[in-house]
Amino acid sequence: MTVIAHDSAGELAADVAVRFLELVERLQSEGREPQIALTGGGIADEIHREIARLAPDAGVDWDRVVFWFGDERFVDRDSSDRNAGQARAALLDVVGAARVHEMPASDAGLSLDEAATAYAEELRTEGDGHFDLVFLGLGPDGHVASLFPGRPEVEADRIAVGVTDSPKPPPLRISLTLPALNRAERVWFVVSGEEKADAADRALGGDESLPAARVHGRSETLWFRA
Ligand code: 6PG
Repeated sequence: MTVIAHDSAGELAADVAVRFLELVERLQSEGREPQIALTGGGIADEIHREIARLAPDAGVDWDRVVFWFGDERFVDRDSSDRNAGQARAALLDVVGAARVHEMPASDAGLSLDEAATAYAEELRTEGDGHFDLVFLGLGPDGHVASLFPGRPEVEADRIAVGVTDSPKPPPLRISLTLPALNRAERVWFVVSGEEKADAADRALGGDESLPAARVHGRSETLWFRA
């Protein structure tokens, strides 16, 4: 695990955006179609906007980047709460990303559990077995994606789970599980704000009561902090 410290959220977002574009360009030049899992949250939104701002000068072929989501709020498709809606507005629609695998919305005709199962199936059939990069925000309680400390979903061994009673609103969510997140080549934690400093310190110190401490990239785990 490597910690990369920044003085502000803006600096963090600028650094992550540059590194992201370099990574995707490099992977594409090696013939890979990068598989990327996005996260929701405030710092993710800032990073997405920065990537979109820098995209015109980068050599990324956006038709050959495959986007997934680490978690999603189970709300209607056009709700402003949806992580996918936020990512589309800030990045995906701006760069014209063509291959975006959103988690089902609550008005898609599936129950929460059916929606989680459907996404797991999509990942199994249309993913390629692992992510090149998983982005994860961190909650002040040490949650990542929608895996909250002490909750049964943290121990799930499926690919994706439905979450009820999420301590962070909205209450219904879908989340990839720890085994699914840990199928990442690289994990980049993006953590900004004083209220998260304690959780980040504890996760970095190996406190496994925090879901964040249990996610590691196979070859790289970076903690961007501001
Ligand atoms: C969500 C997330 C969640 C988020 C963290 C950090 O759906 O809200 O995916 O895991 O990344 O809670 O969010 P902030 O960056 O807004 O604090």
